[in-house]
Amino acid sequence: MSFPLQRLRRTRRTAALRGLVRETWLSPQDFIYPIFVTVGEDVKKPIASMPGISQLSINHAVAEARRAHGLGIPGVLLFGVPDEKDEAASGAYDPEGIVQLATRAIKEAAPELLVITDVCLCEYMSHGHCGVVQRDSGEVLNDVSLELLARTAASQAEAGADIVAPSDMMDGRVAAIRSELDREGFENTPIMAYAAKYASAFYGPFREAAESAPQFGDRRSYQMDPANAREALLEVGLDIEEGADVVMVKPALPYLDVIRRVRETTDLPLAAYNVSGEYAMVKAAAGSGWLDEKAVVLEALTGIKRAGAEIIITYHAPDAARWLAE
Ligand code: PBG
Repeated sequence: MSFPLQRLRRTRRTAALRGLVRETWLSPQDFIYPIFVTVGEDVKKPIASMPGISQLSINHAVAEARRAHGLGIPGVLLFGVPDEKDEAASGAYDPEGIVQLATRAIKEAAPELLVITDVCLCEYMSHGHCGVVQRDSGEVLNDVSLELLARTAASQAEAGADIVAPSDMMDGRVAAIRSELDREGFENTPIMAYAAKYASAFYGPFREAAESAPQFGDRRSYQMDPANAREALLEVGLDIEEGADVVMVKPALPYLDVIRRVRETTDLPLAAYNVSGEYAMVKAAAGSGWLDEKAVVLEALTGIKRAGAEIIITYHAPDAARWLAE
């Protein structure tokens, strides 16, 4: 009878040994925490499909941002829920728009905390699409949308955003935003591009949270087909050529292969967005007592990091940061 010579179980016997050979360490420093900011005074409106997450008026958003900062989370990602929408998304680039006001307030309260602003038009468009829609055809127009996106990014930088993050998926938006930022004197403001953003059903709860569901059609003419991975590399390559400073894959868990492939094609920082539907699934199962929430969240986030993302945008950020500190 012969026995195996090489035994991997030797280094799994104790917590100290497992720690010694652990390849991936999750830290609060890896996280970005998304916050939905809404107009009004003292508003805290829970989002039914995202237990623990609410639309927050600026005073509460500031408190939540401070809490995240206190837990060692380096940044927040702001989404705006405006009170008015139109067909030019004017709220997106209004200097007194909800995200601009929230950015100023958070930067004042916690100057060290990074404020990242989502650059998109869907929350501000009456039809809910991420670009300008041609009335008769219903087509989402690419090049006219670029101007509005660039104005949005510049107005957010003006308000003090540390990083702007375009999530619209129009072609050429990184270049358009870069040149507008440079022209307006924000040549040091980085762009975190949602480079490979899929047309995903996992955004469902977000659309309730941000009140941004398209009123007709869907986003498949601009967001990526979930079946494609090579195309993600093309998207990432274009965004890098256009000047992206950080690239992103979104969603995260069904696209770990894409995260890995992007990691292998660029040495730029890589972010992954653990989206609302991924959060909702865990919360629903944990709420029913079917999963151990803490263990599942830390395992999922570790998996995203192991796949190659060093920045993880996640609604679990404050909980995960607390658990990591225990
Ligand atoms: C806006 C945007 C969306 C998300 C981030 N930015 C929704 C969408 O594209 O429909 C989704 C985030 C999430 O689900 O957590 N374009």
